[in-house]
Amino acid sequence: MILVTGGTGYIGSHSVIELHNEGYDVLIVDNFVNSSPSVLKHLKTITGVDFNFLQVDLCDYEQLKDATKNYSIEGVIHFAAFKSVGESVDLPLKYYNNNIQSLTNVLKLCEEREISNIVFSSSCTVYGNPESIPVTESTPIGKAESPYGKTKVFSEEILKDFHKSSSKTICNLRYFNPIGAHESGLLGDYPDGKPNNLLPFVTQVAAGLREKLSVFGDDYNTKDGSCIRDYIHVVDLAKAHVNAIDYNKRNRKLYSVFNIGTGVGVSVFELLSTFEKVNKTPVKFEISKRRSGDVGAIYADCQNAAKKLNWKAKLNLEDMLSSAWNFQKKN
Ligand code: UD1
Repeated sequence: MILVTGGTGYIGSHSVIELHNEGYDVLIVDNFVNSSPSVLKHLKTITGVDFNFLQVDLCDYEQLKDATKNYSIEGVIHFAAFKSVGESVDLPLKYYNNNIQSLTNVLKLCEEREISNIVFSSSCTVYGNPESIPVTESTPIGKAESPYGKTKVFSEEILKDFHKSSSKTICNLRYFNPIGAHESGLLGDYPDGKPNNLLPFVTQVAAGLREKLSVFGDDYNTKDGSCIRDYIHVVDLAKAHVNAIDYNKRNRKLYSVFNIGTGVGVSVFELLSTFEKVNKTPVKFEISKRRSGDVGAIYADCQNAAKKLNWKAKLNLEDMLSSAWNFQKKN
């Protein structure tokens, strides 16, 4: 059985489905701080399975230990974390406390319960503003600007130290920009309040819920002046987690790191025009000033994941944008 923390969240819920599709039993832990109990109902509609679920605050170790004591757990995928870059600047202690303590508690559980297969959700934010692109896993990290980004850098350091002392098998996945939704339209990125990320904002403008998108800067040194990112379909990203669990099984006691993206850089303007074309829906936008802390261009070198994890993104930008629009319309 695989323990999935944050299993009702955006990436966690899609990963639960992929784990189930590959024959894994799943135990979901979440406290619904940034997700809804209705996700459990949707997971059941999609898979026909009532997943084991525990409502636990990972910052409370005794609660975590007690709630999980009757389950036989072979591996953990640790998704649960706060993830809003802007909020982390205003409330750094909230981020340091939650993201670090929940990680150390999950690792303590692994130590006590002899769970040796660990997969961690990291982010390309650890690369900060890279000197050259595409970034490989050996591009220096530690230049993250926001407290949120720093929690990912610190978490990676904690995992390395824990690996040295415990010989657990740890696979650290650095996600690029996950977007898109499950084909059912039941699961997707459901931000609470005003979206910070690009695509949820775009779909809300297209749906008439917001007046227009602000494109943060058209004066970057890129092909069309707007920022470039490596957008990846959340279903492809979810599948990478199953490969990571399997990779850990084949590589006992190894500590590994993989970039998980498509390897393709897409600008904000390209994303907008593709959205309009695929979904035949206009998106009103204006150019505004650069957002502080934004990186001009970043995309992944994913060759390591292809070679070792045996994983490659299969879905393209059109799939990402049509599934996200389908999700928006249904919700
Ligand atoms: C941020 C985080 C990243 C995190 C990701 C997903 C940093 C530096 N980045 O990535 O760690 O994994 O969110 O949660 O910590 N944009 C607009 N208008 C908008 C919103 C965005 O033009 O209203 C542009 C941004 O300038 C950027 C692109 O769209 O170029 C993507 O932005 P966003 O979706 O927020 O993701 P990142 O900032 O790349």
